[in-house]
Amino acid sequence: METKYFLIATLLILSVGCEEFTPGTVDVDAGRAAILAADQAWSETGGDLEAFISFFAEDARFLPPDGPQANGRDEIRQSFSALAALPGFSLSWSANFSDVSSSGDLGYSVGTFEMTVDGPDGRPATRTGTYTTVWKKQNDGQWKVVSDIPNFDSPAAQATVAQDSTEEQQESLYDRLGGLAPISVVVSDFIAVVVPDPFLNENPAVDASRTRVPAPYLTYQVTALVCQATGGPCQYGGRGMLESHAELYITEEEWDRMVVLFRGVLAKHSVPEKEAQELLDIIDSTKADIVVAASGE
Ligand code: HEM
Repeated sequence: METKYFLIATLLILSVGCEEFTPGTVDVDAGRAAILAADQAWSETGGDLEAFISFFAEDARFLPPDGPQANGRDEIRQSFSALAALPGFSLSWSANFSDVSSSGDLGYSVGTFEMTVDGPDGRPATRTGTYTTVWKKQNDGQWKVVSDIPNFDSPAAQATVAQDSTEEQQESLYDRLGGLAPISVVVSDFIAVVVPDPFLNENPAVDASRTRVPAPYLTYQVTALVCQATGGPCQYGGRGMLESHAELYITEEEWDRMVVLFRGVLAKHSVPEKEAQELLDIIDSTKADIVVAASGE
């Protein structure tokens, strides 16, 4: 009997000891800090999809606000690579709260995020939201995401245009430039300085085409192109940039010279800096099709 009571007493002491011991080993504050640190490291993976995915546990769940649930890393990778492929995609977030269970191996972070993709008008549109991410400590001590639940603050239709939010700035470049009349004047002046430019005409193919292709034709076509590209009502009907410049073997230096001439015309007409830059961006978007010859050729 004595032995029996001794055993019971020993078990009681041990079990009470265990209860006191377990919570004492879990440093909840350290757990919270570790989750915040993991969340921040996760947010710093930038555009590296694989690094981003590596923060998910193998059997994690992703519950997007406007898409099907993704179960497991492979489905999550698919879900995010589709998102990352959207034009102008970027995602950033920051946690503002975390907590951890008394067992010390389960916790969550809460924060806000910002996602940007190009809108239908080609301009970046940003949506904001909040998220809850559930973290589980793995056998190796690393915290991994087991469930990620983002929510948008507002429906997609209310996405705000990131760079310009005022009504005036949302006008098309065509309207901000004043429409077809001022555009045609700028283009006409541009063609007038480009066509006789001695540096450009040192290129024999360019020089030869000057006698073949009338300057007013170029003025007409480039005006229609700029009108259309800036959001105006024109329909460009000429040849594509690749086809029309393929035989000219235009070099980087010739391209740079053309940009200098274009900037000069923009300055002459006091085109505001923002609109001038947007026009230069449009010109620049054609460069890969126009510059085909390596420098010095
Ligand atoms: C260094 C730069 C450039 C040079 C030297 C150049 C020169 C020329 C020449 C010689 C032609 C006549 C080609 C032919 O039919 O034989 C041409 C056509 C044309 N270029 Fe350029 N170009 C340059 C850049 C650009 C840029 C940046 C644009 C517009 C963004 C542009 C728009 C056009 C258009 C619309 C045509 C007429 C296409 C057609 O035949 O339908 N060019 N260019």
